Amino acid sequence: MIALGIEGTAWNLSIALVDEKDVLFQINKPYLPKTGGIHPREAAQHHAEEIPKILSEIFKRFDKIDLVAFSQGPGMGPCLRVVATAARLLALKLKVPLVGVNHCLAHLEIGRWKTKAKNPVTLYVSGGNSQVIARRGERYRVFGETLDIGIGNALDKLARHMNLPHPGGPKIEELAKKGKKFYNLPYVVKGMDLSFSGLVTAAQKLYDSGVSAEDVSYSFQEVAFAMLTEVTERALAYLSLDEVLLVGGVGANERLQEMLKLMCEDRKAKFFAPPKEFMGDNGAMIAYTGLLMFKSGYKTEIENSAVKPDFRIEEVLITWD
Ligand code: ATP
Ligand code: FE2
Repeated sequence: MIALGIEGTAWNLSIALVDEKDVLFQINKPYLPKTGGIHPREAAQHHAEEIPKILSEIFKRFDKIDLVAFSQGPGMGPCLRVVATAARLLALKLKVPLVGVNHCLAHLEIGRWKTKAKNPVTLYVSGGNSQVIARRGERYRVFGETLDIGIGNALDKLARHMNLPHPGGPKIEELAKKGKKFYNLPYVVKGMDLSFSGLVTAAQKLYDSGVSAEDVSYSFQEVAFAMLTEVTERALAYLSLDEVLLVGGVGANERLQEMLKLMCEDRKAKFFAPPKEFMGDNGAMIAYTGLLMFKSGYKTEIENSAVKPDFRIEEVLITWD
């Protein structure tokens, strides 16, 4: 079976085709704001203009599509609506089933697919999300999460303050490698939950006081990533699991990977991270998860295909292994 997946919850529009074995094709068309952050309506406009171009490219190469999957949420309302409209139309036109996919679940499932992790504690770190997730019976449960902004947004905010272009995560990673001096910053873990906004403000003040961007980036990463590693470790111990899976755009960060790897070595747990192209938002994760869901009994009728801007991973009944 060949599934087409459309991802467009935020800035990256990505459409892919996958079958049971592999990713067959993928086109990414990121919306890059000229200044500042993402404007939801402009991003939606960008997606609406690009979707037809990408689809006509796909139909030049492939004539057999058995399923249409789309990111139903969570995400920015205007972007989600453009994606859902295109997906409905395509499914009706091709006369194939439609499957609405939870974006967070898709990050997690493509991570499992590409790494062969079986039953991991998943650390999902992206722009809007920072969650520690594990499967309990027929649901994925969120054991800990950010109480304010996602770690990716925190990195992007700090980067913007230091006049670095969006997305800031990779720029901060480069600067941090050159950092020499560690400055203490607020480490906020409350039970299993995290908070990053106070940390961002403190790091911005540190920069304003004349500390170099390299040292600010280094100190920020050390504190924020230690917080994430602590909560992941606690979930691992509490649930008696022995695998850690890292997914989401921030997962590309080598220092975060290193910290988690060290923690896993100490606990004799296995550490997994998918290739970088499957870390950030990608159409393949939607196509793959749609296929997985369809094969285990899911199908989204048109009347149930409304977008879900606040869609949580716990809402999905997991009917597969
Ligand atoms: P979600 O809807 O899941 O929150 P998203 O729209 O934020 O996803 P992703 O592609 O998953 O999209 O993540 C983007 C984030 O990842 C940005 O905040 C970016 O700065 C961050 N990022 C990307 N590469 C790195 C890196 N090497 N180090 C740290 N952060 C990174
Ligand atoms: Fe994402």
